[in-house]
Amino acid sequence: MQDLKGKVAFITGGASGIGLAMAEAFGREGMSVMLADIEADALALAVDGLRAKQIRAEGYVTDVTRKDALRAAALETIARFGKVHLVCNNAGVGAGGVLGAFPDRDWDWVLDVNLKGVVFGMEIFAPLIASHGEGGHFVNTASMAGWVSPPGMEPYCATKFAVVAMSEGWAAQLAPRNIGVSILCPGFVKTRIHESRRNRPQGYGPDDRTPPPADAPPSPVLSGISVEPVAARVVEAVKGNELYIFTHPEFKDAVAARFAKAMAAFDAAAESPALKGWRDRPSPMAALTANPVVFE
Ligand SMILES: NC(=O)c1ccc[n+]([C@@H]2O[C@H](COP(=O)([O-])OP(=O)(O)OC[C@H]3O[C@@H](n4cnc5c(N)ncnc54)[C@H](O)[C@@H]3O)[C@@H](O)[C@H]2O)c1
Repeated sequence: MQDLKGKVAFITGGASGIGLAMAEAFGREGMSVMLADIEADALALAVDGLRAKQIRAEGYVTDVTRKDALRAAALETIARFGKVHLVCNNAGVGAGGVLGAFPDRDWDWVLDVNLKGVVFGMEIFAPLIASHGEGGHFVNTASMAGWVSPPGMEPYCATKFAVVAMSEGWAAQLAPRNIGVSILCPGFVKTRIHESRRNRPQGYGPDDRTPPPADAPPSPVLSGISVEPVAARVVEAVKGNELYIFTHPEFKDAVAARFAKAMAAFDAAAESPALKGWRDRPSPMAALTANPVVFE
């Protein structure tokens, strides 16, 4: 999507942090923006703030874990603005912990918001964008935690690796319909993600995890980069139809180290006596991609 002016963006998690910054950045490009968020007060403030900057903005309170609620937000956007061209599946929560000490209900919460919220966003909006024939774009917010997995971040990493993987497939499915997909993968950004429990719905039961000790170090999120350059990079990437959006080049070595370990493991397989006789087979990737599944 090179020409953003006059088009419509829908942004989940738009009341705060990276989502709000993307709303402002796309608004400055001349787009109308619909912010969708679970946090009503912050949402109202965010919409007022954008309007004060002469950005055409609306807000809709929704919970991305509820497909019916997200669909209602989509329909309201079309009722207000006519069409949707750009969707940022961005709402997310951060949580993690020691193996065995992370409550089952928190697993459900993190998977529902970070993973299923993105799936629902794709399922609801892909047909809506395809139907107007003007093309469009999805920005799915993953993380550097979709590429490296520090211990203690397993629930979060599970969702972010999933967003990277799913989005790669969706990008191929949607390309023939002139719909791009970008995967936003930031490192630490100074937002309120470390206070995600403020938005943990009551339906997940009481928040009975062991609270962090009083002398715990401050969240690394607080030393992150600010949201504006992240949003500016997203605008560049949408215009350039870039699949991966990195904002923290300093993570490159860690990602390279992970891939280097994987390559070494392939080398070990190639040398393995256990696999003797099964090694020199042709790659099945050509067959797997010969008849690609395309979104219809
Ligand atoms: N801040 C970072 O360091 C960082 C790094 C990598 C990726 N991310 C990702 O960026 C995205 C945005 O997070 P952020 O850092 O701006 O944090 P944030 O807490 O400032 O914003 C997240 C927004 O999502 C909303 N939200 C939470 N649960 C929701 C739900 N069920 N339905 C609708 N909205 C909901 C919140 O109300 C909030 O406005 C998330 O997907 C996060 O995982 C953040």
